[in-house]
Amino acid sequence: MNKLYITGGKPLQGTVSISGAKNAVLPIIAAALMTAEPVVLEETPDLIDVNVMTQVIESLGASVVRQGSRLQIEARDLESIEAPHELVTQMRASIVIMGALLARKGRVRISHPGGCAIGSRPINWHLKGLEALGAEVRMDHGFLDVSAAQGLKGTRIYLDFPSVGATENIMMAAAMAEGTTVIENAAQEPEIVDLANFLNEMGGKVRGAGTSVIHLEGVKELHGTTHTVIPDRIEAGSFLLMAAATGGDVLVQNVISDHLKPLLAKMLEAGVMVEEEGDAIRVRGDGLYQGVDVKTQVHPGFSTDLQAPFLAMLSRAQGTSMVTETIFENRFMHVDELKRMGADIKIEGRTAIIKGVPALTAAPVTATDLRAGAALILAALTAEGTSEISGIHHIYRGYESIEEKLRGLGVVIRSN
Ligand code: EPZ
Repeated sequence: MNKLYITGGKPLQGTVSISGAKNAVLPIIAAALMTAEPVVLEETPDLIDVNVMTQVIESLGASVVRQGSRLQIEARDLESIEAPHELVTQMRASIVIMGALLARKGRVRISHPGGCAIGSRPINWHLKGLEALGAEVRMDHGFLDVSAAQGLKGTRIYLDFPSVGATENIMMAAAMAEGTTVIENAAQEPEIVDLANFLNEMGGKVRGAGTSVIHLEGVKELHGTTHTVIPDRIEAGSFLLMAAATGGDVLVQNVISDHLKPLLAKMLEAGVMVEEEGDAIRVRGDGLYQGVDVKTQVHPGFSTDLQAPFLAMLSRAQGTSMVTETIFENRFMHVDELKRMGADIKIEGRTAIIKGVPALTAAPVTATDLRAGAALILAALTAEGTSEISGIHHIYRGYESIEEKLRGLGVVIRSN
């Protein structure tokens, strides 16, 4: 499949259930390498990125069996400490196996992951944290060779920036280091908390995840466990925005509304009706809402991963909105595609200035990255006529069963 065809102009109606969180399950699959005992993960989404991560740990010697949304992982004997180049280049998030393999085997070799469409994506803070724990980092023909022959020793680490991936790598390495580690200016995303909970369920001693200071008491061994992955707050937010933009009435089920506070606040400010109903959120709109200003921040601020779909919704708001992207250096590629659909947007540095237009028109557009794809789907849902979206492999990296879920909300959608 490489194209989606969406006929827009109809309000979304009905109920949609959110899958497990891609950005929580990826580091947790890596962390499963830290024990020789069986690990069972429930609510794992069936996504390209998740399948690549399972291939990475299988290439190291782990066994992975998928039964629906359940993953059974056993990393009893790891034969290799080198992640295959062709898998790492497919998905840079595989970099989080560094901390896990260092903890389990004392060494890891991995291609230095390239950048991607949204930015150069350096890993300097990951490496600085692992070196602080006593690892030695060498570059060898494009491969990072990271080893800790004397073992890892706990220490105090101050992160220059609350990087999600760097926090995850350091947490996993520190969880089995000798002594205590304190990570200051740590990332506070819900996915960090889910990883900490998983490590503690395996016998780890992690405290403070979800705040900017995380304490870890190193343990010698971790045991197997069964863990249910948290719901995907970015998928949930994407569906809430699609429902609002089309003036629909949708119940989004299996959400933790606390993870969506910044988005819900901004949607209410724009005049969209959202209300929490237990582990679901109902969104109702008439498709008319006010423009608002938003700036992406690290959690608990407005998530950069919801910037693109939110901007797409604002393209039809009344009045002018300003969207500032502070996390990635090149995350406005959806703007050119939205302008092909009639949006009135100007980029000035890190800020997009959006003048609301009454309607978008269907057009052939191209998704350049995962969340840009979500933005184009949202725009196509509001536009009269049938839009053709190319580059949908990006979308399948992060949105499980997106066609079925949209069809369940009354959308006329097909792919070829
Ligand atoms: C995670 O990426 C997510 N991916 C991203 O989601 C998300 O956008 C990002 O966190 C921010 O919330 C996964 O969890 C798999 P960072 P990560 O390290 O860990 C720079 C999606 O759409 N940086 O917090 O790579 C970096 O270049 C994806 O699902 C350094 O300079 O994000 C970026 O500009 C996209 N040096 C900023 O920090 C480093 O050593 C934030 O990156 C590390 C990061």
